[in-house]
Amino acid sequence: MLDASRRWRHEGKSIGLVPTMGALHAGHLSLVDAARRENDVVVASAFVNPIQFGPGEDFERYPRDPDHDAALFARAEVDAVYRPSTQAMYPSGASTRVHVSGVSEPLEGEARPGHFEGVATVVTKLFAAVEPDRAYFGQKDAQQAAVVKRLVSDLDLPVEIRIVPTVREPDGLALSSRNVYLTPDERRGAVALSSGLRAAAEAYAAGERRHNVLRAALLSRLDAEPLAQVEYAEIVDPETFLAPGRLAVLAVRFGKTRLIDNHDLGKAFPG
Ligand code: PAF
Repeated sequence: MLDASRRWRHEGKSIGLVPTMGALHAGHLSLVDAARRENDVVVASAFVNPIQFGPGEDFERYPRDPDHDAALFARAEVDAVYRPSTQAMYPSGASTRVHVSGVSEPLEGEARPGHFEGVATVVTKLFAAVEPDRAYFGQKDAQQAAVVKRLVSDLDLPVEIRIVPTVREPDGLALSSRNVYLTPDERRGAVALSSGLRAAAEAYAAGERRHNVLRAALLSRLDAEPLAQVEYAEIVDPETFLAPGRLAVLAVRFGKTRLIDNHDLGKAFPG
């Protein structure tokens, strides 16, 4: 991978990296489109990173369909797909982890101990393997994006981080590789996340600024949804992920499936 990247760089070409865990959907393709627009060469990585899954999480059952992914990457005109093996990424004896403190600690950090350390470690390794000029992450994983920005800034990594808007189903559900786990009833109920975000954004647009009132609006639809178990619903600062702030963030379980979503209340909710 590094040889190919260095050849492109030698030819004066800029390189955009789209890190993924495969199981592609239109959200990933919007990252590829953004990378395409801004770079001469687009590299996508597809690696289900074991160290970002906690014990009891869905590493084993995480959807894997390399042929389907390859077809979608080819159709999107990705120039190279980097698919390292687990052994290549974490050979026996590898013992270094990248830990970003602060922003990685609340919310997702609390709910998924070790998750962001796994993400920061693999992202650092992907940057080392590809040496991209720019790397593309989805706004859907807002806290991950903030952790990666912090990492890049703190370690002076020579890569520009681009955040691409969330792609949603027509009813508002944010696209996620985990949506395939939802039963039909859970899928119907899952619209309560985006409806809550919309309700909070509408309240904010109408001038509401009280944290507890905005939070109640965020929770309004979820409280009425019997299949939803809210893990957190907060309105936080988009850099620290601490309240108070303007970014509404949600993590909600539907049966065995955990969904996250977020929206900047200063912006109209799409659709
Ligand atoms: O967002 C993801 O798909 C993953 O967390 C990432 C950034 C590819 C790291 O494994």
